[in-house]
Amino acid sequence: MKKREYFPLISALEEIAGKNKIMMHMPGHKGGKGFSESFRDNLLRFDLTELPGLDNLHKPSGVIGRSMDACAKAFGAIKSFFLLNGSTSGIHAMLLSCFKKGDRVLVSRNCHYSVINGLILFEIEPVFVMPCYNEEWQLVIPAGAEEWEKALYNNPDVKGAIVTSPDYYGLCAPVSELAGMMHASGKLLLVDEAHGAHFAFSRKFPPTALSSGADMAVQSFHKTLPALTQAAVLHVGSTRVDIGTVQKAVSMLTTTSPSYMIMASIEYACGLVGTEGEKIYGHLLERLEIMKKELSAMDKLRLIPDELNGFERDPSRIVVNTANSDISGFDLARILSSEYGIYAEMADEYNVVFITTLSDGEGEISALQQSLKEIDRKIGRGKRGTRSEKIFYSGGCIMPDRWSYLQCSVNIPLIESEGYRSAGIVTPYPPGIPVLCPGETISKEHIGCLSRLYLAGADIHGLMGAGRAEDGGNLEDLLISVLPR
Ligand SMILES: Cc1ncc(COP(=O)(O)O)c(C=O)c1O
Repeated sequence: MKKREYFPLISALEEIAGKNKIMMHMPGHKGGKGFSESFRDNLLRFDLTELPGLDNLHKPSGVIGRSMDACAKAFGAIKSFFLLNGSTSGIHAMLLSCFKKGDRVLVSRNCHYSVINGLILFEIEPVFVMPCYNEEWQLVIPAGAEEWEKALYNNPDVKGAIVTSPDYYGLCAPVSELAGMMHASGKLLLVDEAHGAHFAFSRKFPPTALSSGADMAVQSFHKTLPALTQAAVLHVGSTRVDIGTVQKAVSMLTTTSPSYMIMASIEYACGLVGTEGEKIYGHLLERLEIMKKELSAMDKLRLIPDELNGFERDPSRIVVNTANSDISGFDLARILSSEYGIYAEMADEYNVVFITTLSDGEGEISALQQSLKEIDRKIGRGKRGTRSEKIFYSGGCIMPDRWSYLQCSVNIPLIESEGYRSAGIVTPYPPGIPVLCPGETISKEHIGCLSRLYLAGADIHGLMGAGRAEDGGNLEDLLISVLPR
């Protein structure tokens, strides 16, 4: 092999990191801008092991224990656990510590696929609660309290519920109502708050899951706070949860060589927002307010409002909707990156999601503002077809056991798969909300939706056999794993 063939990843990272670009995506430290100079300079020197005085994450009784206690205090938790594998590991630890094999649990169907993986791993049976759909914005929105109440009434044997709040678009589920109804019948409420780690630090953000009564909540610090990728925290909010059991579950799912850099970055983020959050977020949100006012005059592009269908929305999550224009969300994200050097977090057929954090300054926000105004002037008006997510959440899911999930499937062309049951999780990534869960029957609408997403340029996990459409892949070659009939 030639020397450069050994370094494809580093070459790509050097190229991307070397670009003068605006990062409207995670991680929340935005290329280190959210770190102090001294923290940034020391980071590699902090990559140590369990030396004397540095404690042990699996048996914390020294500095790590004190750091986790300070974190718990800042977030109003009874106990907080540092996670080194993102919210994914916290979601798995919540499921493992709260439920037994065979337990039935209410699950918001628009959950992240790490929840589905956790259900398969620990053989927990989901009772899906379907999200709603907003026609005007062509956006999947959280299920309301009534939907959860109905699901609980029809399934009194469930042991608890797991809900996503906020979702990728910043929309918050009715957590406090949900906590009330779950606790009234002696059940647990777990919240995937991966996108809401910053909520605790300004009164201008929606209430946190813990302050709304959740028994546990998991947060990806790396998404919205200045912390390294994979940094996350699992909080215990009530005495209904046994802390010793959670500690064991977290330990089972965590490396025995935890990164001190990641742990230090969790502490850094917590210390920064804990001491200065109200002031810093006050400034950020004031600036975003000016941008929102200015952009409300756009003709075709629209900003998703900070409250939708009565659900609060994270005001720092900027979502631009293209439904009234002649371009898709994917097109808008491509135009922004290729012509303006602005990289969004995510695009779908009708929206582009931008993550703003305390690491963003005037330069980044005004560049986003100016470019959106300019693009709005250039694009045409148009009404495009309705997005089909509103019909494809069937809910008819028979979750396979772990072994069948891993072993028993055959691959067939996606376009010929109608009527089969999906063997795997099929999801555009991001956002990682499954179009198909294992055991769900594949409909014409699923095939139409997945085909459209593929042709529009989405990266779809769970389909194989063809490269990305933009690299010349053919829809006809796309394969999907199905359960044998
Ligand atoms: C709603 C939601 N939950 C959980 C996760 C998993 O988080 P992590 O990547 O920190 O493991 C994600 C990731 O994007 C997510 O969007």
